[in-house]
Amino acid sequence: MSNTADVQQQIINAFNFRHACKVFDPQRKISADEFNTILEAARLSPSSFGFEPWQILVVQSPEKRELFRDFAWGANGATNGTAGQLGTASHFVIFLAHTDATMHHHSDYLQKHMREVKKLPEEVIGFINQAYEKFQTHDFGVEGKRQVADWSARQVYIALGNMMTAAALLGIDSCPIEGFEMAKTVEVLQEHFGIDPERYQPAVMVAFGYRAGEPPFAKTRRPMDQVVSWF
Ligand SMILES: Cc1cc2nc3c(=O)[nH]c(=O)nc-3n(C[C@H](O)[C@H](O)[C@H](O)COP(=O)(O)O)c2cc1C
Repeated sequence: MSNTADVQQQIINAFNFRHACKVFDPQRKISADEFNTILEAARLSPSSFGFEPWQILVVQSPEKRELFRDFAWGANGATNGTAGQLGTASHFVIFLAHTDATMHHHSDYLQKHMREVKKLPEEVIGFINQAYEKFQTHDFGVEGKRQVADWSARQVYIALGNMMTAAALLGIDSCPIEGFEMAKTVEVLQEHFGIDPERYQPAVMVAFGYRAGEPPFAKTRRPMDQVVSWF
């Protein structure tokens, strides 16, 4: 058996390195290569039924980022008197979750996805259609625009986590962001990004870059025995 001690240490180091970075060094930019690797970590993430119910917006235009400042209280630096993650991040991402417009069982979108992306044979597609219908209408009971978007958002958070871990392994900082008003975000996305809210709902944002300074607080977590129960 190979000795994985080094890899284990690298993983733990990366998780300790990652913190919710409030202010990035605005001069330091992530290379295109490295950011592409972070995007690959999202793209290659698992999703329920393999339906990839996410879209990723990378917002690099300072003017476009400013459109969120007034109501993105978790990213506008209001709590620390800085330009916040919106104003300092090297790369700023908005994750969209698919709604039932695409994710409803038997939708045209899903048929195309199974045929053209997953390249599944027709009989397998038929089987998955049935299984997914049962999953949506019975097993998990995920129906309607809001519920389906919330279910999609759960897949989004897997991709989000993978992006942040990939970044940390590369020595790149990040901050996940739910500190924004949903209704106003939907409005801005529709008006300035051409995003149809019937099809896509904002799920979470995430900023990447290099920390401007060391984190002000040490990382705190509950001890393992309060988190994990073995049976
Ligand atoms: C889904 C999610 C949303 C978050 N939203 C924000 C946010 O809007 N702004 C912010 O500065 N931090 C945000 N955080 C960071 C958390 O406050 C932070 O992860 C937590 O306090 C633990 O600290 P650590 O990540 O530095 O270890 C968010 C974290 C998660 C997972």
